[in-house]
Amino acid sequence: MIERPRRLRQNAVLRSLVAETRLHPRDLVLPVFVGEGLTEPRPIESMPGVQQHTLESVVDVARQCVAKGLGGIMLFGVPLEKDATGSGAIDPDGILNVALRAVRDAVGDDLVVMADTCLDEFTDHGHCGVLDEQVRVDNDATNELYARMAVAQARAGAHVVAPSGMMDGQVAVIREALDAEGLMDTVILAYSAKYASAFFGPFREAVQSSLQGDRRTYQQDPANIVESLREIDLDIAEGADLVMVKPAMSYLDVVAAAAERSSVPVAAYQVSGEFSMIQAAAANGWIDLRATAVESLTSIRRAGAQVILTYFALDVPDWIA
Ligand code: PBG
Repeated sequence: MIERPRRLRQNAVLRSLVAETRLHPRDLVLPVFVGEGLTEPRPIESMPGVQQHTLESVVDVARQCVAKGLGGIMLFGVPLEKDATGSGAIDPDGILNVALRAVRDAVGDDLVVMADTCLDEFTDHGHCGVLDEQVRVDNDATNELYARMAVAQARAGAHVVAPSGMMDGQVAVIREALDAEGLMDTVILAYSAKYASAFFGPFREAVQSSLQGDRRTYQQDPANIVESLREIDLDIAEGADLVMVKPAMSYLDVVAAAAERSSVPVAAYQVSGEFSMIQAAAANGWIDLRATAVESLTSIRRAGAQVILTYFALDVPDWIA
C-alpha cells in the first residue's frame, strides 16, 4: 500500500476543509497616504492603483475598509512643508493628525485606526529622526519627538500608534508619554524588526521623500535575524502590544521566528516594492495578479503573521470570496 496524500487534494471542498491557513479580511490593514493641500487624489506612479488621498477621499477609503470588513487602516501623512525637526508631525493641525481625526470620526470603533509614528515624511532631510551637529540621527532627541507625536496622534483619534523609526528605547518613551497623558488605552504596534530595505523604493515616491543616502545606521542589516529577535524582546519588554516584521516576503524566516517567540501578536508589512513587483509583472502578463497576491499573503500568514499590512487589502475580500 502506498501513502496517498493526494486523496485530500481531489476537489476544492476537500482542499478547503484541510487548509491549514486562511486569509480573513479582519487580518488585513490597508496603508494609505494623505497629501496636504490636495484637491483631488494624486496617483503614485510606481504603485499602480495607489494614490495620495485628499482629506475627503481618505475618509471614503476608510469607509470602504469598513464595508469590506478589514481589520484596520494605517495612515501616512505627506505635508506641504518639511523642516529639520519635522514639526508638522506634532502639530495637531498637521496633515496626519487632521486626517486621523477625520477618519476616526467617520469610522468610530468599526475599524482600527493606526498612525505611522515616524518623522521621515515631515523632515526636510528625509531621515526618521532629528540630526545632531555631526549630521547623525540623534536617538534620544528623536525619541522625545516621537513621544509628542504619539500623544498628538492618540488625541487625534488613533487607536494604534506605530513607531517605525527604529530608535533604541522608542517604545518605552512613547508608552510612558501616553500613560502620563492618561492615554492608557492607546495601543503600540512596534515596527520591531525593520530592515534597511530596497523594497521601500516606491514608498519614497509615495511620500515625496527628500532622503539622500540611506537609513542603515538605524534600520537593520538584511543579513541579520538574531538581532531581530533581540529587537522584538526589547520592544515587548518596553510595552509593545504588537510587534512587526518589515518587509515581509523576503523575511518570512524572521516572521516565523518572531511568531514562535513572541508573547504578543506578530504583524508583517508587505511593503511598497513587494506590491509593485507583483503589479509590474502582472501588467506585463507574466503572472496573474490576483493569484499571486493571494498566494503571497497566504504565505505571510503561514509563516506566522497574524496581522498583515498590504496595499492589496481592499481587493482581497473579493478575491477570496
Ligand atoms: C517610515 C516608513 C517607511 C515605510 C513605512 N514607514 C519608509 C522607510 O523606512 O524608508 C515603508 C513602507 C513601504 O515601503 O510600503 N515612516
